[in-house]
Amino acid sequence: MKFQLLADKNLGKKHDCLVLGVCQKTGLLAEDIPLDDKLAALIKSLHKAGDIKGNAGETLLVPVADSSLTDRLLLVGVGESAPAEAKIWRKAVRAAAQALNKTPAKSALVALAQVPVKERDGEWTVTQLTMELGNAQYRYDQTKSKKAPPLSLKSVGIAAPTGSTKKSLDQALQAGQAISAGMSVTRELGNLPGNICTPSYLAQRATEMGLKYKSLKVKALTEKQMERLGMGSLLSVGHGSDQESRLIVIEHKGTTKANSRPYCLVGKGITFDTGGISLKPGLGMDEMKFDMCGAASVIGTMTAVAELNLPINVVAVIAAAENMPSGRATKPGDIVTSMSGKTIEILNTDAEGRLVLCDALTYAERFKPKTVIDVATLTGAAVATFGDVNTAMLSNHDPLADELFKIGQTTLDTVWRLPMSDEYQALLDSNFADIANIGGPKAGTITAACFLSRFTEKFQWAHLDIAGTAWFGGALKGATGRPVPLLVEYLRQQKA
Ligand code: BES
Ligand code: MN
Ligand code: ZN
Repeated sequence: MKFQLLADKNLGKKHDCLVLGVCQKTGLLAEDIPLDDKLAALIKSLHKAGDIKGNAGETLLVPVADSSLTDRLLLVGVGESAPAEAKIWRKAVRAAAQALNKTPAKSALVALAQVPVKERDGEWTVTQLTMELGNAQYRYDQTKSKKAPPLSLKSVGIAAPTGSTKKSLDQALQAGQAISAGMSVTRELGNLPGNICTPSYLAQRATEMGLKYKSLKVKALTEKQMERLGMGSLLSVGHGSDQESRLIVIEHKGTTKANSRPYCLVGKGITFDTGGISLKPGLGMDEMKFDMCGAASVIGTMTAVAELNLPINVVAVIAAAENMPSGRATKPGDIVTSMSGKTIEILNTDAEGRLVLCDALTYAERFKPKTVIDVATLTGAAVATFGDVNTAMLSNHDPLADELFKIGQTTLDTVWRLPMSDEYQALLDSNFADIANIGGPKAGTITAACFLSRFTEKFQWAHLDIAGTAWFGGALKGATGRPVPLLVEYLRQQKA
């Protein structure tokens, strides 16, 4: 889909659909749109009569005859009054996107980015609007014999908010497009089943990205190469599987500045998690195909980073494996040696995410990263704690955690920090190895992060447990694309 910022006389061009915000108190919020008197009166009367009250997310589609501006109006409630709360505004935008996609309109002018939003600027509304409209176009049909019909909407004009330069709004638009493109990559990889999306499939996808984008360099280590590096922990997870494990490394070079240390992303890529010998219960196990959503979000973020050609260096390290039971599988009580040299007693083979991540984190040391953020569907406890609202965050560096928290609040891709104080570390003591891979039934998200913290002492690190936020279950089952918006915004704000 094509997005374009429109201002001044370009707002008077004809579109198939005109999307306008209406608030409860004052009605229409579209001063810059050159409505003729007839249209203005029509909207006023619809509001007065209660056909469109202005409730957040309410929509009304109205056919229009004989207008030089549009063939239909899509009126969208944006809540009580302007400026709107950010989340209310987003609710309105999402409803508008859904309704717009149901119309046959090929072109639309959307006048929602200039609706004032509390504590947000025009760049924010343009990025969010573009991202939400783009994201709403995602359809999954790769494994259906009947393909989704192509959406009619092909071009969207976004009425430019005032008070910002054209250049910065253009950048905001591009960011929104790149984020939604990244999210759809993430969602597609997440939604693909485990028999298609294997570790080698992820490696292949990443390799293709490397060919598409000049700034990217991609390699995928084989099991042999990982053995040579001493990645006994990562490799133990894939022992029971017929699928080879892979360590995928994607490097984005966005600056020629000498020795510019990279920002590093690490993703958990368990392409299916049966639990291994510590087998999971059968009910809902299909959802463990989403156990590579950390990896998928890192790949999606790298897509956006490359699209935007961000002027920094970024390295993604993805630990991909399939966790299966078999005669060769790792057993509870087995002890493995990680790349760091630390030995690990595997008391539960279902705590496999940390086993692949620890070697990926040790591998990341070689890049001398400025910061490292790992993303993982790591614990059921994160789902119990935060549901699908907040991503759990744990960190060894307060400024990094504060920064991610703030960006979460502005992008609405929210994270909430949990403590990682010393008392929890003792839960990982083992009688037979340097460390156990589980910490018992209590504080599951925290002890998982404590395990990772033993492998992140050499850099500033934050861990994002996306077990609750990476996908929806139930009728809307599917990957969400989170936390791509958070990660892209974080990287956009960094300097070489
Ligand atoms: N992939 C799961 C975590 C998970 C479970 C995510 C449910 C989303 C929904 C992870 O590998 C796992 O199995 N974790 C265990 C750890 C436990 C054995 C210490 C868990 O959370 O139960
Ligand atoms: Mn598991
Ligand atoms: Zn898992």
